[in-house]
Amino acid sequence: MTGDPRELAARSFVTGEELDRAGLEALIARASELKDGRSEGAGRGALGGASVALIFEQPSTRTRASFEVGVAELGGTPVVLRGEEMQLRRGESVADTGRVMSRYVHAIVIRSESDETVDELADAAHVPVVNALTPRHHPCQALADLQTLHERFGSLQGLRVAYVGDGNNCARSLAILGRTAGVEVVVASPEGYRLESGIAELTDDPHAAARDADALYTDVWVSMSDEGEGADRRRADLAPFQLSEKLMDLASERAIAMHCLPAHPGEEITEGVLYGDRSAVWDQAENRLHAQKALLELLVPRT
Ligand code: CP
Repeated sequence: MTGDPRELAARSFVTGEELDRAGLEALIARASELKDGRSEGAGRGALGGASVALIFEQPSTRTRASFEVGVAELGGTPVVLRGEEMQLRRGESVADTGRVMSRYVHAIVIRSESDETVDELADAAHVPVVNALTPRHHPCQALADLQTLHERFGSLQGLRVAYVGDGNNCARSLAILGRTAGVEVVVASPEGYRLESGIAELTDDPHAAARDADALYTDVWVSMSDEGEGADRRRADLAPFQLSEKLMDLASERAIAMHCLPAHPGEEITEGVLYGDRSAVWDQAENRLHAQKALLELLVPRT
């Protein structure tokens, strides 16, 4: 996608790679406008009565609430569907679901336990499909992360963000969209938890990653897709990568702490960092609303 809104209509947002730098910058600028003008009703009516399906195959607090509120604030109708209550659970194909939903709604937002499901849905649907988290990607989170970095530092290009811990969907999306924005993203993970090479600078040394960084970022050690056997092993392997006060001391004096939430204070992040003065975590959570409203404005065709 480019910065020209006419080229953004009827496109899906699955990995974040759909946006180029101009498009991403335009989206973040619009997200900030929507945030600043929220009390005056900025964006009201932008969806012009469009309906947006919100399909959740997995639990969510932030994503579900922010999309539901965001669609309503833009003058659209959110249609929340829980995966286990859909015929998908009884064997209806993803493609047929996409074809049918496209007859009702103007966009589909989906959180799925499978990347293939979201790909199949985007291929079959005739309306934009937005990835609201899969095992590999969480691009809506990265939009809010970049908006948060932009409002804290005034620009994105040249910032250094160190992600420490599990090289998971949040790390991958931060790396993909950070690279598009001109942010230097370094990901520190132990062997077995690394991102694939080529999308970010990778290291197994959290201290080297943190040195002089503008932001330190972490996420839970046991994601939804990792629950079950092996959770204790994951906690042990990832323990040296905790986002702690000591790690913050290595970062730049202006550095902020980031986490996409939900957090487990005492595991991947200390309580002092999570709730401390340098935490930008709550702004990240709020910015899910504004960034996703900007995304919906760009993607959803006017009715
Ligand atoms: N960060 C995030 O996606 O939160 P939820 O799982 O609560 O939606």
